Amino acid sequence: MNQLAINSDQEQDPGSLLSIRGLNQFYGESHTLWDLDLEVPSGACTCLMGRNGVGKTTLLKSIMGLLPTRSGDLQFDGLDLGQASAEKRAILGIGYVPQGRQIFSLLTVEENLQIGLPARSDRQRKIPDFIFELFPVLSEMRHRRGGDLSGGQQQQLAIGRALVTDPKLLILDEPTEGIQPNVVAEIGDIIRKLNREIGLTVLLVEQKLPFARKVADHFCILDRGRNVATGTIAQLSDDLVREYLTV
Ligand SMILES: Nc1ncnc2c1ncn2[C@@H]1O[C@H](COP(=O)(O)OP(=O)(O)OP(=O)(O)O)[C@@H](O)[C@H]1O
Ligand SMILES: [Mg+2]
Repeated sequence: MNQLAINSDQEQDPGSLLSIRGLNQFYGESHTLWDLDLEVPSGACTCLMGRNGVGKTTLLKSIMGLLPTRSGDLQFDGLDLGQASAEKRAILGIGYVPQGRQIFSLLTVEENLQIGLPARSDRQRKIPDFIFELFPVLSEMRHRRGGDLSGGQQQQLAIGRALVTDPKLLILDEPTEGIQPNVVAEIGDIIRKLNREIGLTVLLVEQKLPFARKVADHFCILDRGRNVATGTIAQLSDDLVREYLTV
């Protein structure tokens, strides 16, 4: 059943591209996300933070429709996502860069990028040139296998694959995890460029504080499956960092 409907009774904050209300998620009997609310402001970069295992990836997968949820409302771009499939959400404009990148190591760079094409709403079936302009290394390595790329190059490929779907919202799960420090700065520059120059709304999971402070406009902290603090990045105080982020 297609439960997509124009936003009616459930109000979405007009400044938000994505609004989540009362989200509950379970793995079997294990209650992982608890009555979670989240606003993702349109045109901004929001950083989702929190210690290991608090539910960050679970939240992103729930937004993407990759996990069944028990209850809650998700409004995206004026639509109620209901039980829409991950494919449908991708077509509606949610792009996803998963934790650990999940590149197909035996497929070429070009073939990895082509995977995103069916999710385009405009039926274009060619990889847009701007992806190769944004990531020249992907152009150079177009015919190499995904598995031959370095971690940083694979991360660029994973971001490129998400951009091929022509998203309105780009979701990235720990894009700097396991990546050399010099490449981390490059990934940060790319995310900023996508957000500030191209106008993409970004929702990012990131554990590195300096990176989050540089790239994000807003933060949201999860603790044991609950949203415990949100604000502008300037409001991310040392007290919050001590209480919820440092190990
Ligand atoms: N497939 C699964 N089945 C059962 N429990 C799971 C599954 N995936 C995650 N969990 C549990 O759900 C909780 C939240 O996990 P999740 O991966 O969302 O955390 P996270 O904040 O992304 O952590 P990290 O920072 O390590 O990536 C953890 O307790 C985890 O063990
Ligand atoms: Mg995670």
